Parts: sequence; structure tokens; C-alpha cells
Amino acid sequence: MAVGIFDSGLGGLTVLDAVSKRLPDVPFVYFGDNAHTPYGVRDADDIFELTTAGVERLWNAGCDLVILACNTASAAALRRMQEKWLPEDKRVLGVFVPLIEALTERKWGDNSPPREVAVKHVALFATPATVSSRAFQRELAFRAIGVDVEAQPCGGVVDAIEEGDEILAEALVRSHVEALQRRMPSPEAAILGCTHYPLMEQVFQAALGPEVRVFCQASLVAESLADYLDRHPEMRGSGAEAQFLTTGNAQTVSNKATQFLRRPIRFLAA
Ligand code: DGL
Repeated sequence: MAVGIFDSGLGGLTVLDAVSKRLPDVPFVYFGDNAHTPYGVRDADDIFELTTAGVERLWNAGCDLVILACNTASAAALRRMQEKWLPEDKRVLGVFVPLIEALTERKWGDNSPPREVAVKHVALFATPATVSSRAFQRELAFRAIGVDVEAQPCGGVVDAIEEGDEILAEALVRSHVEALQRRMPSPEAAILGCTHYPLMEQVFQAALGPEVRVFCQASLVAESLADYLDRHPEMRGSGAEAQFLTTGNAQTVSNKATQFLRRPIRFLAA
């Protein structure tokens, strides 16, 4: 009954943590493509090749359903995977939709036409590849009208987090927030559109100020997944044990993951 969680590196652990708390009986298999992180500076073909290889590895671990806990892969590869690549008996879900549903106050599967929503000025912080894909704006336009999105490509933040360089990551977050505020001085909401960024949530919130509502994906994705599995119990795959797999150095990745999640995590070579 295992479910797969994919990320380019460690960021998806923020989603893994939330889904395992919400669904403690489901074994999750995590795949971190640490050998190829960051994805955010790669082109769409490259991201597609790497993401499909990781998802196939999760299928081999008995996961018929895989969550792309990576906005960059969701933005650059998911649509192509769903249209041309995915076999009938497998599912791959991205992390954008739950976030946009929360922002636009919609319920799962509400396909009514786009309408006006409370927030009008939204700051989007994401990787360069996610920003240039404009996937967030496209998904939002299906659901809401009159929302102004100002997107800030946050170069360097994922690398600094993966390297464990918190001081650099914090400095970069502050400078990306300042750059965005020069173009949009008073956003009402901010989207942390990269699964690495919840590790920096307090820094984003402090730099943006208390009046800005910061939306984080992990808990929203956990609720959506619980709802999805209720409606599609057949998508729980055959895998029986939780595992952490990486394309990187298993010992180094385990040490960093243990530091992030503040509990012992043991990665194995994928
Ligand atoms: N954590 C990922 C995301 O949500 C990807 C970061 C990267 O590899 O650049 O976008």
C-alpha cells in the first residue's frame, strides 16, 4: 500500500513529513535525486528525463501513485508525463493544485468557471525554471480572475539549503524578498512555490512582515492526498515498507535529512 514521494533533493522531505503525520498507516517511499539537484536551473527536457527516471524507480518500489513533491518537476514535466508517458494503471500528482485551491478557497474538484477571489496581489517565490514555465499563473487562471501575480525567481536558495549553508540561504531569501517588494510593495499573500522553502518559512515571513499571509504546501498537500486516497483506495501500491532512496551519497544525504527533520533518517542508494 505504499505511496511514492519524489523530489530533486531534500525539499520534498517537508511534504513527506506532513503526509506521514496525516496518514501514519501509509508507508511512504521517498526518492531524492540529490545527484542532480538543483532542477531549477535545468531545461524542461532535462527535468522530464530526470523526473521520469525517478518515478520509474518508485514504481519498482511498489508505488503506483507518486506525488511530485517538487514544484519545478510539477511545472516543467508533469503535464507532458500525464499526456504522453503515464501508463493507465499509474498516477502522478503535482503539488500546485492544492495550493491554488487554498488560495482561491476552492474545494477539490470544483471545476466551476474562474471567479473573483479575496486576494488580489500575490507574491510567488519559486525556482527559475518554475517561474519561467508560468505554470502557476496558468493553473490560477483556470480558477480565479483579477489576481496580480508577481513572481521572483529565487536563484541560489535551493543550492544553499542542499549544502546546509543556512546563513547564505537566509541572506538570499531576504534579498529575493526585497527584489520582489520593489515591484510589488504590498502583496496580501505569498506563495512558497518550492518544497525546499518551508525550511526557510520564518525568514520569508519576517522579511515580508506579519500582515502577509504565507502559503506553504506541505500541510495542504497532506490534506489533498488523504482525500484522494479515500476516493481512490486502489491507488495504494503493493509496496509494504517505508524507505528513503537517493541518487546521491547515502551517508551525506542521511546526515542532512536527519538535521532537517530532527529525527534519524537513513537513506539507501537508489
Ligand atoms: N524542491 C524543488 C521545488 O519544489 C526543486 C528545487 C530544485 O531542484 O531546484 O521546486
